[in-house]
Parts: sequence; C-alpha cells; structure tokens
Amino acid sequence: MSDDLKATLERTVAEARSALEAVQSLEELERLRTAHLGRKGSLTLLLRRIGSLPPKLRGPFGQLCNAEKRELEQLLEARRRELAALQLSGVRDFDPTTPGLRVSGGHEHPVLAMRREIEDIFLSMGFLILDGPEVETEYYNFEALNIPDHHPARDMQDTFWIETGPESRWVLRTHTSPMQVRAMERFGVPIRTIVPGRVYRNETLDATHEATFHQVEGLVIDRGISVGHLKGVMAAFLGELFGRNVDVRLRPHYFPFVEPGFELDFKCAFCGGAGCRVCKQTGWIEILGCGLVHPHVLRAGGADPEEYSGFAFGMGIERLTMMRHSIEDIRHFHSGSLRFFEQF
Ligand code: PHE
Repeated sequence: MSDDLKATLERTVAEARSALEAVQSLEELERLRTAHLGRKGSLTLLLRRIGSLPPKLRGPFGQLCNAEKRELEQLLEARRRELAALQLSGVRDFDPTTPGLRVSGGHEHPVLAMRREIEDIFLSMGFLILDGPEVETEYYNFEALNIPDHHPARDMQDTFWIETGPESRWVLRTHTSPMQVRAMERFGVPIRTIVPGRVYRNETLDATHEATFHQVEGLVIDRGISVGHLKGVMAAFLGELFGRNVDVRLRPHYFPFVEPGFELDFKCAFCGGAGCRVCKQTGWIEILGCGLVHPHVLRAGGADPEEYSGFAFGMGIERLTMMRHSIEDIRHFHSGSLRFFEQF
C-alpha cells in the first residue's frame, strides 16, 4: 500500500514538473497549479490518503508529500515570475545584442539656440532680460524713439499697421527698440538690459529679408557712459559668442534714436580680414546698429540727459545664426524642412 502511494507520488510529481516546463502562459500555469495543488488537485488528494496508511508510515510519508508539495510550489512561483516578466517586456526571447529602437527626439530651433546663447552671455555680464509687446503703439515704436512723422522708417513699405480707431494707431513692432523707453519707464535708471524678441517688416522677401525675424535690443544707462563702454561691451560679447578675440570697428551711421550712431563691424572670422566671399572681400562683417542714446529718448524714458547717458544696440538673431552655420538663405528658418533642421 505504501509503496503504491509512493509510486503514485513520484509519478504525480514527475508529471507536474514536465508539464511545468511546457507552460507558456500565466493562464496555463494557473491551470497546472489547480490540477496539482488545488482543492481536488492530485497532490492534495494524495495527502488525504495518508490517513489510510498504517500509523507508523503516516509520519514519514506525510513529510515526503509535504516536501514535494513545497518544492512544486517554489517551481510554480519561479515560473510565474518569469512569465510575468516576459509579459511585461513583450518579448519571449530577449537578445541583448539586437540594436535598440532609435528614438528621434526634436531639438531647439537654431534661432532659439542662438538666442539662448546670447542671453547667457549678457546674463553673465549682469544684464536684465526683458520681454516686450509685439503689437506696439505708434508712440513707442516711432515717436518716443525720435522718429518723426515724415521719416522713411514709418513708410507703408516697411511697417505693418494695425487698423484701429483714428486716435490710436498700432503697429507690429518693426524693431525691439520700443523697449528702450518702456524699460526706462518701468525700471528707471541706471539700467542694464537686453530684450530679445520677434519683429515684423513689410518687406519683399529674399535670401536676406524675411517679414518676421528676431532681434536683440541692448540698453545700458548710467552716469558717464561713453562710446568706449559701447565698444568694450560689444567686443566682449562677440568674443564670447565666437570663442576668440574679435576686432571691432564703428562706422558712423544714422539712426534717429542715437547720437552719435554707428554700424558695428567685426573682423571677418572666416578669412581673418584678408577678404573672402563671406565678407564680400572687405575683411569686415557688419553685425549691428548701435550708438549713444539720444537725449530725446532719455527724456521720454524719464531720465535726465544732464545726469545720465547710455548706449543702445540692436542686432538680428537670424543673421548671427546664418553666420555661425554658413546658412545662405534666411527663408530656411521658416521652411519647416526636416532636411534643413536635422543638420543642427
Ligand atoms: N533698431 C535698429 C534697427 O532695427 C537697430 C538699433 C538699435 C540701432 C539700437 C541703434 C541702437 O535697425
């Protein structure tokens, strides 16, 4: 009788083990558990029959049965974990040498990246970074900047006018300079700030002209500010931006809101000043407009020109980005072409 039971136990356990190896899903595994360890499972039934054994055999056989049962439970649990992990990862056979899935992430637009770089440099020099409205009043865009009514900059050709009532005239700002007066009004003087942002021009589009582009305005007002400060700050900024010392020069130029006004050139970084295609054989590259803030503008901002002076500058971010990456056409920036953007 006991030999008979023992043989049955061995057969049952052997069966359960080989069935376990073939199990491929959690459902099959659960069925196997019920078949052997459930209320009417084969091992459970065997254990019930212990009572029919002679008393001295009950103990040893019971121990044997329980040991087999525990082991089977452990095997079932181990297989359950394996199957659960496979189900999570969705793969049956994991080959760690297969190449991973390529995740193609987006990245910053090159104009935004350039803007951030410029901001970082001026932040490190203690400048405040301000933001201003893109829809501006005629007053801040022109009048407060000493741009008289008849000035060509107000021409319908250049400015997008916004149709409103006869008494208030609004424009899409044609430059970031309106923030000069707004910044002085809001924060007073002395002040040291840059204003990056989008500007609009009603222009014929070509490789170097877009109807919307970005500028960074700069404004420094304090006692005793001179052209020397302007030139020094610009040279420091461009040196940081291009990662080397750059020679800069000022050429007189007229902007109504500065006096004196300049265009600032830097020595061509591509040919070192010898003359090349990039600098159109001149050895110099024009990079920004600047000058000492006009007394009318200081007054409009609430600063006394007898006590304060300052400099202002304005530069195009697209232009700098084009120079950095040798981009030949400004219209690429709005093209949405992945072939273009994936190069950066
Ligand atoms: N606002 C001028 C432009 O858009 C640039 C400029 C800014 C010039 C500040 C002088 C001082 O061309």
